[in-house]
Amino acid sequence: GNGAAKAGKSRNILEKMDDSDKNCVVFYGSQTGTAEDYASRIAKEGHSRFGLRCMVADLEDYEYDNLDQFPEDKLAVFVLATYGEGEPTDNAVEFYEFLGGDDVSFSEGASADEKPLGKMKYVAFGLGNNTYEHYNSMVRDVDKYLTKLGATRLGAAGEGDDGAGTMEEDFLAWKEPMWAAVCEALNLEEREAVYEPVFEIKERTDLSAEDDTVYLGEPNKNHLEGSQKGPYNANNPFIAPIVESYELFNVADRNCLHMEIGIEGSNLSYTTGDHIAIWPTNAGKEVDRLLNILGLKDKRDTVIAVKGLDSTAKVPFPSPTTYEAAVRYHMEIGAAVSRQFASQLAQFAPNEDIKNEMAKLGSEKDYFHEKVTDRNLNLAQLLEITSKGEPWTKIPFSLMIEGLLKIQPRYYSISSSSLVQKNKISITAVVESSQKPGAPHVLKGVTTNYLLALKQKQHGDPTPDPNGLEYCITGPRNKYDGIHVPVHVRHSNFRLPSDPSKPVIMVGPGTGVAPFRGFIQERAAQAKAGQPVGKTVLFFGCRKKAEDFVYEKEWEEYKQALGDNFIMHTAFSRDGPKKIYVQHRLEENGEEINKLLEQKAYFYVCGDAANMAREVNTLLGKIIAKYRGVDESRGEEIVKAMRASNQYQEDVWS
Ligand code: FAD
Ligand code: 2AM
Repeated sequence: GNGAAKAGKSRNILEKMDDSDKNCVVFYGSQTGTAEDYASRIAKEGHSRFGLRCMVADLEDYEYDNLDQFPEDKLAVFVLATYGEGEPTDNAVEFYEFLGGDDVSFSEGASADEKPLGKMKYVAFGLGNNTYEHYNSMVRDVDKYLTKLGATRLGAAGEGDDGAGTMEEDFLAWKEPMWAAVCEALNLEEREAVYEPVFEIKERTDLSAEDDTVYLGEPNKNHLEGSQKGPYNANNPFIAPIVESYELFNVADRNCLHMEIGIEGSNLSYTTGDHIAIWPTNAGKEVDRLLNILGLKDKRDTVIAVKGLDSTAKVPFPSPTTYEAAVRYHMEIGAAVSRQFASQLAQFAPNEDIKNEMAKLGSEKDYFHEKVTDRNLNLAQLLEITSKGEPWTKIPFSLMIEGLLKIQPRYYSISSSSLVQKNKISITAVVESSQKPGAPHVLKGVTTNYLLALKQKQHGDPTPDPNGLEYCITGPRNKYDGIHVPVHVRHSNFRLPSDPSKPVIMVGPGTGVAPFRGFIQERAAQAKAGQPVGKTVLFFGCRKKAEDFVYEKEWEEYKQALGDNFIMHTAFSRDGPKKIYVQHRLEENGEEINKLLEQKAYFYVCGDAANMAREVNTLLGKIIAKYRGVDESRGEEIVKAMRASNQYQEDVWS
């Protein structure tokens, strides 16, 4: 853990609850902040509707071995995301290992058979994605462990499905019966909900945005003082220079960026196959939209000091800061709005008509979907449309901080080899830009459009500035010269075989090819250095050879180094009359694939989790069945076993 950052804080949850007079703790296991957000919402609702005195707790901040003394008149809530291949989120690993361990030992020394958690009452909600094999396994496992240890679950364990896009509705449907069960067990009654701010916002007229004690996007004090210090990690990004950037597509309306990010001198290191996290900045246009609709246009540079009104409320950004900096650098303002948030905002509408419309949106599921979800509206767009531009000046800024997610870094599969360029990390990122039919705005991905703007700046491209770029780069204080981006490295298990003479098969259509560029770069370097390198087979797919065939020239250079051992199969889906996908090429080359697998080739899939990766998985089972003369269910089992032994590895996202 990050002991240093947490030094001095008690890791005893029971003590913490007593000291802060809480009778409910909402633990979260969160990777990208969504579970954390749901945890805060449960805590707030528990308080406003039922008078529960709730705190939210990061699972990694506490010890678990005293949970056997969790009092019976208190409630524990677990909000747990499942990450990747059924793994716990980084902050929940220890908790998961503790509860699931063979010999769980609690401070009082009770053994698992004695039901040490006999007094604990809990509720649980999981966040998962049904396109992954181990759907919601985290909440399922933890629920099983807790029950086995004697704890009593109130209501059903909820499961939200991001894959089906129903997370929010799954949550809303789960929580009502859950609250009913909690009320009954803890003898609570619902009261009329009143909004109570979690944060105090003080406007500091004695300070100005120019003062060097005011945060203008800097993530912490070292950064503020202009001397960033390692270790760099998820709590402390490195402001890295973009050494190089260029466009990979050859088509007018779509962009794919290649970027080289310098990590020299940072002490950051990576291994081929790792991910880099990029911390984005919101687009100027969306920042302005939100500030304007909140009536904060003239106060954008006003300095604010933000403080939790309760010792357990964590302010999600450093303070003092300005309204603008808080919105631009720290809040996920572009994301979809939840129906519950809409419903909560109704009471702060500028007038009765707008209030009624907002309340209707908040309470009618289908209406909300039609008007908001299906049109990809973010919060400011929703407010703007509902009030026809009239500012919502009554919304407390605390509610913005509570209701919007804290901005999250996005991950990119590193597309370079650490052997070849240890101080430069490459990424290959497709710029997200889309517009649903009937939607009033183009939906622009926050990070990828930020990176695009950086690239344009670096090249002095004469494009108009869609992103308010002047702020994106450095903050108004302009502390960091040149073009920089905050990053950290996340280590993965996606790895080349340690022996390069082993054969590898890689399937990576679109940006799924990113880590394989790194893999192949590495093997080409090893071959050049005279090491024996095994068969290196790449299946790549894109729309059109002339448009989005990324790194076309480079593959030829790798071919020179690797010779006949490098084989590339391409599938261009939109060049001919019929769609050709990587799966077609896999099928055509089934015999060879099976042969290589029998020689213990590693098999890798990267890219789209929703369809491609699943289809490839299924197809591989069929290929194996066909060429080994076994039935398809046996083929499937063989693929499963390959996954279990890491012969089959995935790096996928949706
Ligand atoms: P975001 O702003 O995060 O938006 C992303 C999507 O969210 C939108 O397309 C839309 O579907 C939805 N969304 C956002 N706002 C709204 C709204 N208002 N209403 C409705 N829906 C909305 N990408 C790459 O290009 N290359 C890689 O190598 C790569 N590797 C990855 C590796 C891992 C392990 C993971 C998890 C992801 C990887 N990704 C990669 C994806 C990447 O992390 C980002 O998700 C992607 O670039 C989009 O980020 P963004 O900030 O531009 O878009
Ligand atoms: P398409 O967009 O023409 O359907 C990279 O995105 C490539 O992956 C594109 O050629 C895209 O084709 C293709 N693709 C889309 N869905 C796929 C799937 N289910 N399996 C494999 N490739 C797919």
